[in-house]
Amino acid sequence: MQKLLITLDGPAGAGKSTVSRKLAQRLGYRYIDTGALYRGVALVVSHSKIDPQDDLALEQLCASLKLEFRLIENNSAIFLNGAAIAHLIRTPAITALASTVASRPVVREHLLKLQLEMGRNKAAVFEGRDMGTVVFPQADIKFFLDASIKERALRRHNESGDQNDQTLTETELNIRQRDAQDANRLTAPLKSADDAVKIDSTRMSISEVVEFMLAKIKSEFDS
Ligand code: DC
Repeated sequence: MQKLLITLDGPAGAGKSTVSRKLAQRLGYRYIDTGALYRGVALVVSHSKIDPQDDLALEQLCASLKLEFRLIENNSAIFLNGAAIAHLIRTPAITALASTVASRPVVREHLLKLQLEMGRNKAAVFEGRDMGTVVFPQADIKFFLDASIKERALRRHNESGDQNDQTLTETELNIRQRDAQDANRLTAPLKSADDAVKIDSTRMSISEVVEFMLAKIKSEFDS
């Protein structure tokens, strides 16, 4: 089969990350978690005195960063200026700040170039919010993964396990706020591409979603 560029978009908690990681492993492709790039920028903003609305400062900051994915024990891991940061970017504060920096066009423009570069050799699964609409409108195959708000909140709540200091209701409220901020921003809002394969995972397991995608890819490209 030819090398494909696959995109997977959708709202928070729909199961995108796990599905993308597994899909990439099954195909022997790279997995690119583009949310981690926004979270990486947010991490640096949080350690600086920069106002996240100050576009000039954000532009300079982005230009000074080296964000990359490295394969560690067969898993794609995000690195910032040579250091692993995966364990630092999932806190509620960074999650909220990532959504704010993701609404700034200067940040999106910078990360757009980086993502295009990362996609040059295809054989990759790109996961995010605007992969099929803005970054790779010519992707070989696009998926849009959704689930009901209640199910997404429940999944996020269960994922956080013992470290969770939020109630399920608070998690649901956070997801609603983030969905609204991601879907209503002017630049590259969260939405499905017209030509994306839409999947509602509310009543599907991760492996059912992955198998469905693989079957779809096979039917389109394995001739
Ligand atoms: O997928 P995530 O929760 O790690 O994403 C973090 C934030 O970045 C979230 O608010 C949405 C935003 N994001 C985006 O705007 N565009 C992308 N391609 C990926 C993530």
